[in-house]
Amino acid sequence: ATTNSTDLLDVSPVIPVVVIDDVEHAVPLAQALVRGGIAVIEVTLRTAAALPAIERIAAEVPEILLGAGTVTVPAHATQAASAGARFLVTPGSTRNLLQAAEETGLPVLPGAATASEALALAELGYSSLKFFPAEAAGGVGYLRSLAGPLPNLRFCPTGGVSATNAKDYLALPNVGCVGGSWLTPAATLAAGDWDAVAALATDAASLTG
Ligand code: 3PG
Repeated sequence: ATTNSTDLLDVSPVIPVVVIDDVEHAVPLAQALVRGGIAVIEVTLRTAAALPAIERIAAEVPEILLGAGTVTVPAHATQAASAGARFLVTPGSTRNLLQAAEETGLPVLPGAATASEALALAELGYSSLKFFPAEAAGGVGYLRSLAGPLPNLRFCPTGGVSATNAKDYLALPNVGCVGGSWLTPAATLAAGDWDAVAALATDAASLTG
């Protein structure tokens, strides 16, 4: 059965999408987000540190809603679930990938970039989708255009979303939240500047449409 989570889009105005290169960053990074008022994190499975980072955050920062992103092959879904992820995000959607994600029993936020992809996911029972890559695919205007014919679908746009354009997305009727990496810049993580991450989180937590 489809385990889409409509609630996931209501947890926070922003889901931080993070790339963790050093597993030692995982816990202070998650703590900084919580301190700033963002109690959700999507750890992307793009680095060797990602799964160990998910394990650490699950064990040491249980108050953050911890997800795994960049789930692109079926094995990722099971690995992320075993590591302690509580939701899964995919940049795009195939039947095999969705099936593996659904088998974990975790809520899944599947990616779509076109009306056809969104309709295919709606047929499978998904009503909350990731719109990716948001800016490159057409941005706010494109997503607004989907609201007319697809009024029952809600999106979390990610990919090129930033502190400057997040409000424009959040103002759309079919956007529940946005996702992005701007809260956790690589140089800031490398410098261990957790106060800077907390400050970016504070700004993000107050975003509204
Ligand atoms: C994602 O996986 O959602 C994107 O890579 C995030 O995009 P951004 O780095 O442009 O915010």
